[in-house]
Amino acid sequence: MKSSVAEIRARFDKDVERFSNLETGQSATVDAPLVLNLITRAAAAVTPQAHELLDVGAGAGNYSLKMLQALPGLNVTLVDLSRPMLDRALERVSAATPGSVTALQGDVRELDLRPHRYDIILAAAVLHHMRSDAEWEAVAGRLFYALRPGGSLWIADLITHSVPAVQEQMWTRYGDYLSGLKDEAYRDQVFAYIDKEDTPRALMTQLDLLRKVGFTQVELLHKNSVFAAFGAVKT
Ligand SMILES: C[S@@+](CC[C@H](N)C(=O)[O-])C[C@H]1O[C@@H](n2cnc3c(N)ncnc32)[C@H](O)[C@@H]1O
Repeated sequence: MKSSVAEIRARFDKDVERFSNLETGQSATVDAPLVLNLITRAAAAVTPQAHELLDVGAGAGNYSLKMLQALPGLNVTLVDLSRPMLDRALERVSAATPGSVTALQGDVRELDLRPHRYDIILAAAVLHHMRSDAEWEAVAGRLFYALRPGGSLWIADLITHSVPAVQEQMWTRYGDYLSGLKDEAYRDQVFAYIDKEDTPRALMTQLDLLRKVGFTQVELLHKNSVFAAFGAVKT
């Protein structure tokens, strides 16, 4: 049995510090600082006139903070299940923009997002908590609907591969990365919580899904072992 939403929220409530370092990003994620940079620079290049940013699964606000370095002055809406994460994000992001900062606590599957409102949506390390095909499609559709025409959605996440032998190869590479970062016990600990908590989807499936819900331009920014950064533009 995978973790329930309440279990996921409880785990992140206790993990705020691990998501509060803007220089390193989250170290269990391969290429975290590079991806923070790539995603936010791409969003700024594609949507340079942006005013409204939505950060889904904002955690402690790292992606919004990096986005504000590229496009200062944005109004920011932070969405997260976890109140302690949102409190930390509110504090950090409010200090980094003269714009408004709004925190919405809730599940991205249930939030009442306003249509055609946001110029940029960021979703980092959060969509892998979606479970069924229907949930994945509904959330992608909601994010598309919440973007204004010309707006862009950027995703950084744990992914899988469509070909099992390649998935095995990439999973081993990720294990080697974690063992190198600390040790094998750390690798096993990370693998255990991924097994319990996460349901990532194949990168190619996710790119297809973005097209299916209406995005006309879909772009891959980066992929390394089981992590990818990609995005899409609503024309
Ligand atoms: C791995 S953290 C990533 C935080 C941040 N995006 C970053 O990259 O630093 C995932 C965050 O998503 C939140 N989260 C998980 N499932 C969610 C859901 N269904 N709706 C909203 N937030 C969710 C968690 O509470 C957590 O703060």
